[in-house]
Amino acid sequence: MTTSTTTELVIQAESDIVAARRTVREAAVRLGFGITDVTRIVTAASELARNIFKYAGEGVMRWRYLEAGGRSGIEIQFVDHGPGIEDVNRALEEGYSTGGGLGMGLPGARRLMDELDIQSTVGQGTTVTLRKWRRS
Ligand SMILES: Nc1ncnc2c1ncn2[C@@H]1O[C@H](COP(=O)(O)OP(=O)(O)O)[C@@H](O)[C@H]1O
Ligand SMILES: [Mg+2]
Repeated sequence: MTTSTTTELVIQAESDIVAARRTVREAAVRLGFGITDVTRIVTAASELARNIFKYAGEGVMRWRYLEAGGRSGIEIQFVDHGPGIEDVNRALEEGYSTGGGLGMGLPGARRLMDELDIQSTVGQGTTVTLRKWRRS
């Protein structure tokens, strides 16, 4: 698999979530995703950026293009050094929230993307990796 240079954006304010949405939208459009997929990708990224802001206070979003086996896609990673997630499987259940939210962010993002991976250690932080492949 070949990849492009990674681009990084700091998330530490409400306005950074807006910037993250815009960045991801532009990247997805440039990669040739259709409008429906662009919306899916932006919606998923928005939820993950919001989770960083809400639960960790700050973190970064990184994205890059992927090229593998004749297909291309986008990978977006959300990295924070916040409190971590105690039970990742529970966090992926619809309606589970420790923050008084709807608990739809992670399960929604999983549905909207092709791949969602969560690496999290309590007291150390969380890394969520999203991938979507372009349908050709
Ligand atoms: N970056 C994060 N750091 C720590 N905990 C997180 C993070 N992202 C999600 N969580 C945990 O996973 C739960 C579910 O997240 P989510 O599905 O986005 O729903 P909501 O944000 O509405 O609670 C959160 O309530 C929180 O407990
Ligand atoms: Mg959320």
